[in-house]
Amino acid sequence: MDHETIIIGAGVAGLGIGWQLAERGMDVAIVERDTVGSGASTAAAGMLAPVSEVEFEEDDRLELELASLEMYADFVAELEEASGVDVDYQTTGTIIVAIDRDEAEALDRIHRYHDELGLEAHGMTPDEAREREPGLSPNIRGGLFCPGDHQVDPGRLVDAMAQAFERAGGTLVEEAEVERVETEYDSVEGVELAGGERMTASKVVVAAGAWTPDIEGLPDGVLPHVRPVRGEMLECDRGDPSVVDHVVRVPQQTRPNVYLAPKSDGRIVVGATSEERGFDTTPTAGGIYELLRGAWRAVPGIYDEHLLRTWTGFRPVTLDNRPVLGPVDSIDGLWIATGHGRNGILMTPVTARAVSEAILTGSMPDVIAKFAPNEDSL
Ligand code: FAD
Ligand code: GLY
Repeated sequence: MDHETIIIGAGVAGLGIGWQLAERGMDVAIVERDTVGSGASTAAAGMLAPVSEVEFEEDDRLELELASLEMYADFVAELEEASGVDVDYQTTGTIIVAIDRDEAEALDRIHRYHDELGLEAHGMTPDEAREREPGLSPNIRGGLFCPGDHQVDPGRLVDAMAQAFERAGGTLVEEAEVERVETEYDSVEGVELAGGERMTASKVVVAAGAWTPDIEGLPDGVLPHVRPVRGEMLECDRGDPSVVDHVVRVPQQTRPNVYLAPKSDGRIVVGATSEERGFDTTPTAGGIYELLRGAWRAVPGIYDEHLLRTWTGFRPVTLDNRPVLGPVDSIDGLWIATGHGRNGILMTPVTARAVSEAILTGSMPDVIAKFAPNEDSL
């Protein structure tokens, strides 16, 4: 065997699992079609937002997200120590604001849901909100402070996990596309790359994000149906003094769903659209307009800041909006870790720790048991 385990995809899912396995002495290779993090992972804003992004009736996923948030501080400490990379973990909390009547009603509804679920979120009058975050518009009608919703810099998170993985002895193969998973008698044998080269392993983890269904070699229905939900993003200078110091957003349930995430290196990341447009990589005038307008409504000071960059990313979303994490029963040695949708950066620690533990011990930790591949996820 070339390796004990091959992981397809070097996004946060593949890198996190690979790093944890390599740390525990397993011989692991991660094979990435492009460069590390070039999928959804470096396109993300990096918000760790189970409370401000809570969706109605998705309690299992919320439980997984909260478990991951709980692990974040330790995970970051371990990762920064292992890699020497600072991931810009900021714990200043998130402010949701309402500017028009629709947003005020959405804010009210979401706050009632927070109360029902016992999630910590504090209602604020406009004055209280502006006292906490002076950059907010004088036109806001009210706000909600979510003290536990933090953020990281996803680019640095990816760099840190790649470094930690290699320092732990893992093999990173970039610019190598896996064309198919090879099996014999319902057991994994390895992978074949686009150039025809073969790599053997007794375990293969598919962590290919929104491109998962393109991988060949497996019977129909084995890989989950994951589709790309496109997000357009942009970034501006933060200004001096900074125009905003917290993550600020409008309620998740309103459109356009705009957020601003200030980073320590002087950028404000502004997102994001949610579009069903396949893998179209070019941002649109309308999408960028909506983001700039939404950001300016909430934080008017952004108007004068330099626009630095625009980009798009592809959230890996399953039919039931739940991640798929675990072994495939019908093919020995085949594992899946994808479908994290809008919250894959948040779910990085739980994915890395729980999936690696399952691979090493052969038994599924309770925290991911409900997300095992099954007919509903395919
Ligand atoms: P990816 O990062 O997409 O990685 C998959 C990798 O597999 C890619 O690098 C790809 O090149 C590689 N690959 C695919 N096919 C092959 C193949 N055949 N062979 C080899 N390699 C292959 N989440 C949050 O928690 N907070 C946020 O604030 C947040 N904001 C977001 C904003 C946007 C605009 C987007 C798009 C996403 C956001 N997300 C956020 C979601 C998060 O980015 C994703 O859930 C997460 O990055 C998914 O990670 P992944 O490793 O599964 O997939
Ligand atoms: N979680 C933020 C986004 O997906 O846009």
